[in-house]
Amino acid sequence: MQNAFDEDPAAPRALPGDAVAPPPWHGAHMIHTLSRLLTSWEQRAAVKKPDLDVQALYQPGCPDYLVDLLPFADHPDFQNAGEEFRQAALSCGWLAYCEKTVAIESKIVNPACMHVIDGDIPAIRGEPFRETASQALVDESYHILMIVKACEVTRRKRGLGHLQIPDFELIRQLRSCRAQYPEDWQQVLVQLAFAVVSEVMVSDYLRLLSDAKSIQPINYLTTEIHRRDESAHSAVFKTVGAAVLHALSPREQEFFLQILPEPARWFADAELRVWRSMLTQIDFPHADRMIDDCQNAGRKGVELDLNKLDELYVDLEISRTFRI
Ligand SMILES: [Fe+2]
Ligand SMILES: [Fe+2]
Repeated sequence: MQNAFDEDPAAPRALPGDAVAPPPWHGAHMIHTLSRLLTSWEQRAAVKKPDLDVQALYQPGCPDYLVDLLPFADHPDFQNAGEEFRQAALSCGWLAYCEKTVAIESKIVNPACMHVIDGDIPAIRGEPFRETASQALVDESYHILMIVKACEVTRRKRGLGHLQIPDFELIRQLRSCRAQYPEDWQQVLVQLAFAVVSEVMVSDYLRLLSDAKSIQPINYLTTEIHRRDESAHSAVFKTVGAAVLHALSPREQEFFLQILPEPARWFADAELRVWRSMLTQIDFPHADRMIDDCQNAGRKGVELDLNKLDELYVDLEISRTFRI
């Protein structure tokens, strides 16, 4: 059953006199969309609600993650491993899933919000953009707190306090893009492109676990609460992206559209580099062989709905399709 959080509070709607819903970047409608998001925040935002009781919700007998989300789930070395190692790999999967989400918030989305708040993007200076971006920044900071608390209990209960998690491909690619395009305007547009695409894709990424009632309750509940906020953020960032895109010069516009597929290409990466490191740290038997086989088989990451990205182009009124 859908609840109120599943409604997109910023979906473009026809105003009186409109035959059809307008594009999200259209002036009056854009302000209307952002105003609705601003006024609904008090009621919908997770940060305005009571915290989850992490300790009470933790059930040691439940697995921390879904086996199907492991890139090596069907590998004989995983299937033949002892239960202790299989469960430890699932705990690593949950921790990596969480840390990737935190990295998206802290290294991709929050810096993009700060560009909006600081007025670095001429097309979206002033209200209501600054206030909407400030709300998103508060939301993302609260998501980080929720995730940090859920990770802390996992690490403590599973004896994984020592586990180091290397950088994820998406973040490595962001750094590489920023190094490749050093001019100020390029840096801002790279950050914004990564944020828009990530915010469109993150709801689907969270949905992989938010309905998974067979795993640790605190894990799927944390993910579900996060996902509800993100359904509104997707609309915020599509609106911001569209407003910016349509105010850019042709050269800047071409650059922005050239960057957009990059985060989509890396968002759902299998993260085999991260897996090799984690499995080695927990002494998983034949970890290297298992990861080598996944690499040689060109193992893809989790499957996300790429139609969402084509919908983004439609919302931006760009006649392209994503090729990633
Ligand atoms: Fe978030
Ligand atoms: Fe978000």
